[in-house]
Amino acid sequence: MKQAVSTLITWYRENKRALPWRIEPSPYHVWISEIMLQQTRIEAVISYYHRFIQELPTVFDLACVDEDKLLKLWEGLGYYNRARNLKKAAQIIVEKYHGEFPNTYSAISQLPGVGEYTASAIASICFFEPQVTIDGNVLRVYMRVYECYANVDSLATRKQARQHLMTIIPKQKQAGEFNQALMELGEVICIPRGVPKCSLCPLHDACLSRKNHTFLSLPVRSPKKEKQVENYTVLLIKNKNKYAICQRAETGLLANMWQFPMLPDDYSQEEVREYLNDCGYTVSSLQKAISYTHTFTHKKWKMISFEIEIEIEADSMVPKLKKEKCCWASLEELVSKYAIPSAFLPFLTFLIDRDEACLFLKEK
Ligand code: ADE
Repeated sequence: MKQAVSTLITWYRENKRALPWRIEPSPYHVWISEIMLQQTRIEAVISYYHRFIQELPTVFDLACVDEDKLLKLWEGLGYYNRARNLKKAAQIIVEKYHGEFPNTYSAISQLPGVGEYTASAIASICFFEPQVTIDGNVLRVYMRVYECYANVDSLATRKQARQHLMTIIPKQKQAGEFNQALMELGEVICIPRGVPKCSLCPLHDACLSRKNHTFLSLPVRSPKKEKQVENYTVLLIKNKNKYAICQRAETGLLANMWQFPMLPDDYSQEEVREYLNDCGYTVSSLQKAISYTHTFTHKKWKMISFEIEIEIEADSMVPKLKKEKCCWASLEELVSKYAIPSAFLPFLTFLIDRDEACLFLKEK
């Protein structure tokens, strides 16, 4: 592979995708994009990235953004602590570094939410420091080129790949291109599913698994663990064009985000009616609505839902649902003001589709 490094970099220069953070690869732009790219496909990240940079163009804007706005900008990307860590790190950059991004791998990796991967990406792309970025794409390319059957999910394999690539990463100016070339190669040529496009690959001649036709058996992974399944009943409670929503706890999964009220377990129609009666409400209509299963990293939520209309007194300012921090919100407010995690977006879309007065939202 060492001999193929210049071919790899030439291939990257000729084929790299025109991604928005590559137009002006400042440390701020590269940082935001790399954090967004963890766990999310490039095509999905682009619109988030544009919106984020438009709303928060500098590290100073990020350092003082309010949390609701930050979570709204992150809505749908998941892993919301990443967004909170961005703000914490921005505050450190403003206070400790007067707004100038730290310019070494070791200083960058001290920032909250910045691990080895992100620090290497920023240090190599923006400051040309020869630090290797190891992500799933790079590992796949590496294991195939060297026809290595070690488990890619093990830390030892990662470490070994990093150590080896550190010996071949260019030491002058091209470190960032080398890293991006390997990541890009994994994304567009040495693809994770389906047959890799070996005839287009700059590492064609160096690649042992191409030579021995073993690329479809590589990389070797640990068997996937069964995810824990939790059942929930989501209540889409409407009163005078507003819906009941609740804010999640300050810590734990989806901290501080807003959602439709949800009861643990599967409730029947009668049980939902009973629950609402216990809360003091008279139900005027109640029917089963959509079901949706949302998959997180470690668990699955299997959700059923009910569309409910209730009658309340004129002065009932907040929904009384035996839950803390609830309020009423119109569909427009749900779209524009509250940060709703992806797990609940199918329910919101369902309500928007059903609501005839909501034409303006359907066009969004
Ligand atoms: N995937 C994640 N970060 C990337 C980058 N900087 N270049 C190419 N692909 C990537």
